[in-house]
Amino acid sequence: MAAFSEQRVLSVRHWTGSLFSFRVERPASFRFRSGEFVMLGLKVDGKPLLRAYSIASPAWDDGLDFFSIKVADGPLTSRLQAIREGDTILLGAKSVGTLVHDALLPGRRLYLLSTGTGIAPFASIIRDPETYERFEQVILTHTCREAADLAYGEELVASLKDDPLVGEHAGKLIHYTSLTREDHPRTGRITALMDSGQLWAETGGPLDPATDRVMICGSIDMINDCKARVEAAGLEEGSNARPGAFVVEKAFVG
Ligand code: A2P
Repeated sequence: MAAFSEQRVLSVRHWTGSLFSFRVERPASFRFRSGEFVMLGLKVDGKPLLRAYSIASPAWDDGLDFFSIKVADGPLTSRLQAIREGDTILLGAKSVGTLVHDALLPGRRLYLLSTGTGIAPFASIIRDPETYERFEQVILTHTCREAADLAYGEELVASLKDDPLVGEHAGKLIHYTSLTREDHPRTGRITALMDSGQLWAETGGPLDPATDRVMICGSIDMINDCKARVEAAGLEEGSNARPGAFVVEKAFVG
């Protein structure tokens, strides 16, 4: 099997000067678990240039959604941001990842902690019915610099109640947003909101290793800082081979 194939771009949407999302055709043979990532890119000077991208759509969807930053001098995103409907991109044949239900033990509350484009895998997870079969409550935290950066997540969460597969569970999802560089009803990094106790106070109590599960996606520093706090609460990291109480994955950059 070839390592990647050419797929058609179905739509592109620019959210801010530095954020865009796009949808591509899903090959009939492409199987993945909600929360996984895949290699994606373009042919540059005749050579494939691919980077890891979280799939932002759920496993049952016909197309594949992605949410990306634009980096002016980024080798891939400086070019990828110019794609239009009808263009082709390169898509890896195989998806992988740890932000999947298989890597978590059963629990009652699921925290999905994200910053910036780290929300992408959770856009998949919150539209997967399995999430609501496995958890009584789902808390999606999204922290960004400015209000405009939250728009993708806000629109997604607002659309959930009309979703034919998970609409009936929309009431189980708490969308917990904060900003760090603009005024907002809630301000501060997610780590600061954990340290002050505000996050736990606003979402039903402190982390309980017996019943709470956590997925973390953002920059390396964000992951490490969140991981330290989650481990301090007694949660153990899981993997596909050995499910645990929390899992982490780096959001795509560059
Ligand atoms: P801040 O504005 O205080 O840096 P970025 O765009 O740099 O990836 O950041 C996205 C969001 O993640 C910002 O709100 C940023 O806050 C926050 N952030 C950056 N580093 C960390 C970290 N180590 N822990 C928690 N949040 C972080």
